[in-house]
Amino acid sequence: MTTKFLLEESRMPRHWYNIVADLPVPPAPPLHPGTQQPVGPADLEPLFTRSLIEQEMATEREIEIPEPIREVFRLWRPAPLIRARRLEQALGTPAKIFFKYEGVSPAGSHKPNSAVPQAWYNAQASIRKLTTETGAGQWGSSLAFAGSLFGLEVKIFQVRVSYDQKPYRRALMETYGATCIASPSAETSAGRAVLAEHPQHPGSLGLAISEAVEVAATNDDTKYALGSVLNHVLLHQTIIGQEAMLQMEMADADPDVVIACTGGGSNFAGLAFPYVGQTLRGGRSRRIVAVEPSACPSLTRGRFAYDYGDTAHLTPLTKMHTLGSSFTPPGFHAGGLRYHGMAPLVSHLKQLGLIEAQAYTQTECFAAAVLFARCEGIVPAPEASHAVQGAVAEALRCKAEGKAETILFGLSGHGHFDMAAYTNYLGGKLVDASYDEAELAMALAGLPSVPA
Ligand SMILES: Cc1ncc(COP(=O)(O)O)c(C=O)c1O
Repeated sequence: MTTKFLLEESRMPRHWYNIVADLPVPPAPPLHPGTQQPVGPADLEPLFTRSLIEQEMATEREIEIPEPIREVFRLWRPAPLIRARRLEQALGTPAKIFFKYEGVSPAGSHKPNSAVPQAWYNAQASIRKLTTETGAGQWGSSLAFAGSLFGLEVKIFQVRVSYDQKPYRRALMETYGATCIASPSAETSAGRAVLAEHPQHPGSLGLAISEAVEVAATNDDTKYALGSVLNHVLLHQTIIGQEAMLQMEMADADPDVVIACTGGGSNFAGLAFPYVGQTLRGGRSRRIVAVEPSACPSLTRGRFAYDYGDTAHLTPLTKMHTLGSSFTPPGFHAGGLRYHGMAPLVSHLKQLGLIEAQAYTQTECFAAAVLFARCEGIVPAPEASHAVQGAVAEALRCKAEGKAETILFGLSGHGHFDMAAYTNYLGGKLVDASYDEAELAMALAGLPSVPA
């Protein structure tokens, strides 16, 4: 009985998959925050290098992965697909459970799948410095790692709470040679404005994005890198699902349900888009489930509307499921899922009814993650624990209905830097703070008005 399905390096995908080519209806265009007209490549040039802007706007189905990027990927890719037999037994489910494990990357998650190409394309364009934000620290460490490979200076604005809670993530970023700054910071006008009003502000992803964008927009030798949400980031992650498809074939299985957690949507898109694309081209249909935290439920409780990607309103307006750019979720451990919006492409698929969304509390997710760790050995990142909980819920449904379905979920990262969260959970100290309904209503009331 095979447990791990491993692809030869020679079978690693040579192209990224662009779902835009297969969509029945194109997604709404991003708009310039000032003119509210669709953005063109020139509007994005202060922030991104040309090849990445081309990918952001690409419509062809396949985009070649340059060989120098594949060479770096071979350090850890292809990532394993694993059958979770002990979890199946513990749940007493007739379902088969498979997971695609992205925690084998140097930074411990799927994030290097986009950090490496973003750093490489910038280095090719002779850019010397990159800025970015990080919540959980996973994206920051990934870009720090990628920057170190291609000789780029990387400056990372880390959300204040996670800067304080996760000193070892910061140490990892610094080990790779990056500079890490707590956000809000005094380095930018966006940060200074917030600090003037709230000197103890805990920070948010939307605010850290504003700071990183401001530094890139005001320095000619500096570009900005984003770890999720944008089309080109989702595109880079599709290597996950393409590998998984080959590995599921090796396992002689085909998923009935595909599940991943969603913060900005990139690991979800990476695993799910190749499957959705197959359906859109006439293949079989499957259930595709996005799992989000109930304390920051953009897909299940947000509005599908044009909104800003950041707090200071420097980014283009994109049509997405959003809780409002001023929404600050309550504290919870999955820092990478504390974002007010969702990738426009993921939102578009939800709107078209091609995917489903579910929300769970953090204690439900930690319970599933601890069960998973005790069966399969891997301690999931708090973000990834949402996918584990999604898979456990589906497996228990299969048990109740007596159905032997095949479940595939994305385990986007390990939680080795998140053990303080596990200590809290195991000590019974974790609470499920819910968001403030009045604050959500206010944030939604503040959505920009964009003519239809
Ligand atoms: C391990 C892990 N999974 C998931 C996410 C959520 O991001 P995305 O929705 O872009 O995959 C993060 C973000 O930091 C992460 O670190």
